[in-house]
Amino acid sequence: MDDLESLADEIRNAGTVVALTGAGISAPSGVPTFRGDDGVWERFDEGQFAYGRFQRDPEGFWDDRVDLQQELFGGEFEPNAAHEALAAMGRDDSLEAILTQNTDGLHGDALESTAGSETDEVSREGDDPTVLELHGNARRVRCADCGKRAAGDPIFERAADGDLPPTCDCGGVYKPDVVLFGEQLPGAVIQRARSLARESDVFLAIGSSLVVQPAASLPRLAASAGATVGIINLETTPADDTADALVREDVTDALPRLQTLVTETETRG
Ligand code: APR
Repeated sequence: MDDLESLADEIRNAGTVVALTGAGISAPSGVPTFRGDDGVWERFDEGQFAYGRFQRDPEGFWDDRVDLQQELFGGEFEPNAAHEALAAMGRDDSLEAILTQNTDGLHGDALESTAGSETDEVSREGDDPTVLELHGNARRVRCADCGKRAAGDPIFERAADGDLPPTCDCGGVYKPDVVLFGEQLPGAVIQRARSLARESDVFLAIGSSLVVQPAASLPRLAASAGATVGIINLETTPADDTADALVREDVTDALPRLQTLVTETETRG
């Protein structure tokens, strides 16, 4: 039995399964990852997109952010087989929650095809797994003053046309609705993520280098609370020592296979 098969058995017998995802799950959809050979941070200076720069120099921040947004999300990206496999596991009640570091919205798209209408806090209860976007959603912007959310595309177009920084009707400066380096994650979101990790019987870390806190500490938190930890990632991560199962496979191979194995084992009974 390989690690994926043992994970499937654990999932079949688990009460609560939680998945943490990173840029690697969206890479097969064409969304660039941040680290590694061709990572975004090899081509852009991440310091230029930190919260402190947004506060100090919103015009310069936005001028650079337009290019980064184009680089990250300029294409027409669709969910891939890995997103779909997690959505199917959610529908089969084999997955309680998806905690994603990604801001591309692709987990929501994968669930959208079956779930009800999109909710703006992007957490769904009931049939679909809860989706917590730990770092926000780059399809939206939010006013730094009044907090009003708006669709991102028209605001990025205004910025690309020289409206720097783009402002809300209230006069406040818009900010991409993502958690910037140096910015706190919303307290409720990280508390919910931590309690889900602690409650999990199986915790999957998928397509993440697990180097950015506080998300990177979730696998260890789950392990310390007794969860079986599975890491599905092409490269090593600092959390590999906590893993009961290490799967060095492409997500588009591993996750559909895992979903099939879970379904088979469920059928096998
Ligand atoms: N299958 C499996 N793993 C993959 C695949 C794939 N097809 N493609 C890439 N990976 C792995 C890489 O080996 C790498 O370890 O996915 C990981 C992606 O790591 P990062 O690019 O660092 O992305 P992530 O871990 O999500 O970054 C966390 O950093 O810049 C911030 O806010 C940003 O949310 C992001 C955070």
